[in-house]
Amino acid sequence: MTSSNMINQGAEARVFEGEFCSRSVIVKERFSKKYRHPTLDEKLTKKRMTQEARAIMRCKKAGIATPAIYFVNYETNQIYMENIKDSLTVKEYIQALQREGGKDEELNKLADKIGNILATMHNIDVIHGDLTTSNIMIKRPFKELDLVLIDFGLSHVSRLLEDKGVDLYVLERALLSTHPNTEVLFERMLQNYSKKSKQSKEVLAKLEEVRMRGRKRLMVG
Ligand SMILES: Nc1ncnc2c1ncn2[C@@H]1O[C@H](COP(=O)(O)OP(=O)(O)O)[C@@H](O)[C@H]1O
Ligand SMILES: [Mg+2]
Repeated sequence: MTSSNMINQGAEARVFEGEFCSRSVIVKERFSKKYRHPTLDEKLTKKRMTQEARAIMRCKKAGIATPAIYFVNYETNQIYMENIKDSLTVKEYIQALQREGGKDEELNKLADKIGNILATMHNIDVIHGDLTTSNIMIKRPFKELDLVLIDFGLSHVSRLLEDKGVDLYVLERALLSTHPNTEVLFERMLQNYSKKSKQSKEVLAKLEEVRMRGRKRLMVG
């Protein structure tokens, strides 16, 4: 790889931008966590990388946009993937729309699209594991709602309603804590999820159950 710039330093990985085989790439490099036992750490890192590559490919097959994977290096714990150029994270996009104000139509369409994609993903039993507005990207021009799912390091394949319910709950918490006044937006997203999901009733019932558990936990403290 030639010349690279760090674009993100997370808790488990660094993300660089660079060039590989004359393509613009993103390199996600997982680093060891000092507090973990070295052998366990090594195992977890490899597992996350495998999960990430596997879920991305499974999503692609179902027509869900994800970055193309170019290369997985288990020696250096790096995944080389397609750089989603000319894009923002959905977090940045929502913040921009909210700053401008009067952008309800754009926000609604975004929620519809996210609901649709997540139902498609759950229909093929992919659980993302870390749904936040930073882990969804939107390409320019924004009105085309070309969304790309990223960051599948905590994902797994599961048919369990519980896992799907928790996946949505994680997004609900992330959305409401990152963006003010998005309750209605999340409800709208769920409505569109329901249109597309093969098990919407069951998953939404699970979501309600998970919410109740969350509340109980808060009350107990
Ligand atoms: N394929 C990609 N194309 C463009 N930007 C990306 C890509 N992958 C990650 N990023 C950027 O890097 C950030 C962190 O990457 P992510 O995979 O979410 O790692 P982390 O586990 O640290 O959250 C993302 O929020 C996004 O801004
Ligand atoms: Mg992320």
